[in-house]
Amino acid sequence: MTRPLVVGNWKMNLDYVEAVHLTQQIGVILKNKPLEHVELVVVPPFVDLRSVTSVVESERIAVGVGAQHASRHEAGAHTGEVSVSMLQRLNVAWVLVGHSERRAMYAMTDVVVAQTLRTVLGQGLNGVLCVGEELSIREAGRQDDFVTAQLHDALEGLDETSRPLVTIAYEPIWAIGSGLTATTEQVREMTEHIRTVASSLSLGQVRVLYGGSVNAENAASLMTEGRVDGFLVGGASLKAESFLTISQAANDCYDGKR
Ligand code: PGA
Repeated sequence: MTRPLVVGNWKMNLDYVEAVHLTQQIGVILKNKPLEHVELVVVPPFVDLRSVTSVVESERIAVGVGAQHASRHEAGAHTGEVSVSMLQRLNVAWVLVGHSERRAMYAMTDVVVAQTLRTVLGQGLNGVLCVGEELSIREAGRQDDFVTAQLHDALEGLDETSRPLVTIAYEPIWAIGSGLTATTEQVREMTEHIRTVASSLSLGQVRVLYGGSVNAENAASLMTEGRVDGFLVGGASLKAESFLTISQAANDCYDGKR
């Protein structure tokens, strides 16, 4: 089993003062109870990044910092966008690419997702590629084909240096923020499917996360029965206690304690 990764996506929540506060709370809990095996990443809004990376560095908190999106362009006339090199200057090491909210609400097509992922990886940052079907596709039983197409569009032809920087997050849209978690069986079937498709694209070692209403109660069973390598957590990442309880569950599962 690969070392688990737990990523907290704060979405459009927490201003920079609140973000600093949450980061410090995470730091205090981690100092009392370090997580031996889990890699943690927090993903604040753009305007919080500088403050969060400063706290992480000055207080030596064992978390990475990520951005929720980045421009596929390198620089120039792109009002409202943020470039990967700007993120890199802030010691941001991770970028979410193609979150379903960006795909659905900000017209992020598969082509744009693929270009963004290449820009992120090309500059040496880790990219968390988000994939997942909406409810009507699941009800029609077409989820495997749908996710296969998303993976092919984003990952085909990646070069050798880029491949180790990829993580895939399976986030069924119907489970995001809805309280409707996918069953462990649905998660296991899909993560196996994703691993098969990923290896056919020369990404045999890729980490596959699950996201969608993950909480302190369901994390351990999703990990062991769903056989994921970690989580992409939204709502439950906004409180230090629930975020770290989820992370602790991932840690214990890796350790064989659960
Ligand atoms: P949720 O969000 O945990 O609030 O369902 C997950 C996500 O969108 O990444």
